[in-house]
Amino acid sequence: MDAFTPLHCILLLLLISTSTTVYANFYDDIDVMWGAANVTIFNDGQDLELPLISQDSGSLIQSKEEFLYGSFSMLMKLVPGNSAGTVTTFYLSSEGDMHDEIDMEFLGNVSGQPYILHTNIFGQGLGGREQQFYLWFDPTVDFHNYTVLWNPWQIMIMVDGLPIRVFGNHEEVGVAYLKQAMRIYSSIWDGDQWATQGGSIKVDWSLAPFVASLSNLTIAACTNSTQIDQCSSSNDPDYWWNQPAYQSLTYSQQGQLNWVRNNFLLYDYCRDLPRFNYTLPPECAFQS
Ligand SMILES: *[C@@H]1O[C@H](CO)[C@@H](O)[C@H](O)[C@H]1NC(C)=O
Ligand SMILES: *[C@@H]1O[C@H](CO)[C@@H](O)[C@H](O)[C@H]1NC(C)=O
Ligand SMILES: *[C@@H]1O[C@H](CO)[C@@H](O)[C@H](O)[C@H]1NC(C)=O
Ligand SMILES: *[C@@H]1O[C@H](CO)[C@@H](O)[C@H](O)[C@H]1NC(C)=O
Ligand SMILES: *[C@@H]1O[C@H](CO)[C@@H](O)[C@H](O)[C@H]1NC(C)=O
Ligand SMILES: *[C@@H]1O[C@H](CO)[C@@H](O)[C@H](O)[C@H]1NC(C)=O
Repeated sequence: MDAFTPLHCILLLLLISTSTTVYANFYDDIDVMWGAANVTIFNDGQDLELPLISQDSGSLIQSKEEFLYGSFSMLMKLVPGNSAGTVTTFYLSSEGDMHDEIDMEFLGNVSGQPYILHTNIFGQGLGGREQQFYLWFDPTVDFHNYTVLWNPWQIMIMVDGLPIRVFGNHEEVGVAYLKQAMRIYSSIWDGDQWATQGGSIKVDWSLAPFVASLSNLTIAACTNSTQIDQCSSSNDPDYWWNQPAYQSLTYSQQGQLNWVRNNFLLYDYCRDLPRFNYTLPPECAFQS
């Protein structure tokens, strides 16, 4: 090998600053775990199509890297037309029984009827924190930007930059916070046992394949090999998602969240008193 040329130095710098925002490349940065024969990647790795071909033939991709805090965005265009029974997902998860997970699941519907965005959050294996929303646009016509921002202070789920759900760190009242390294996943599968109108509408397989389109996966994050104190620092501009502006909602984000909740919230576990025998989980006390 030659001595380092300037190009080598630039590459080395890129490798060291693990926190800069990058478009992930679907060829280089993810593995196809299910449906590899039918998942297509194109535009130099910028775009990907996830097909659901039959009951036993969906698709799942996962990031090669694990991340511990960061901001993760995917542009998605969901299955158009009659998508009843299909479930398309974008989520983060660690592994094991006591796993952490942040879920966005898009529940399809018959033509012209609205998708539901189903969300859930698991900390140390404990989930049951469902919130469901309608969207304020038709998610099958254009790409929209779905984001999980995760830092030591809070988790913010955003749609086109508007917060729809916030899960603060409330370890002080004994709620396990998400602190395990997670991978990014996206999938499409047959969920017709429960997904559409309570499971009453099944997939119409004569319409298969059902295809969801993904683009421009953007990651600004710490990997599991970055020093954890760096990833929790609010001072380093490289770790912008840790800055005070992202440690709690700004006044305008609170207004946006209220707008979403007042107009598009369908289900919130924190309002489901009978389910919890009239003693809501402790984090519900902090929910806006
Ligand atoms: C891919 O699709 C074909 C039909 O087009 C199907 O026969 C095959 O089983 C699929 N493969 C996978 C891995 O899903
Ligand atoms: C970090 O994650 C990578 C990819 O999953 C894995 O190969 C590696 O062993 C992990 N390193 C540590 C320190 O956990
Ligand atoms: C998606 O939204 C997030 C959060 O607002 C933003 O950081 C990211 O740049 C957006 N991605 C694209 C491709 O527009
Ligand atoms: C599907 O449409 C029906 C009727 O508009 C609606 O009640 C339901 O919430 C929609 N979404 C799903 C996923 O069932
Ligand atoms: C993804 O980003 C590229 C480069 O900024 C842009 O040309 C392309 O339109 C984006 N894809 C989508 C679906 O917006
Ligand atoms: C609900 O709470 C009451 C009062 O603590 C208790 O007596 C009852 O057994 C609980 N019921 C269930 C179904 O957990």
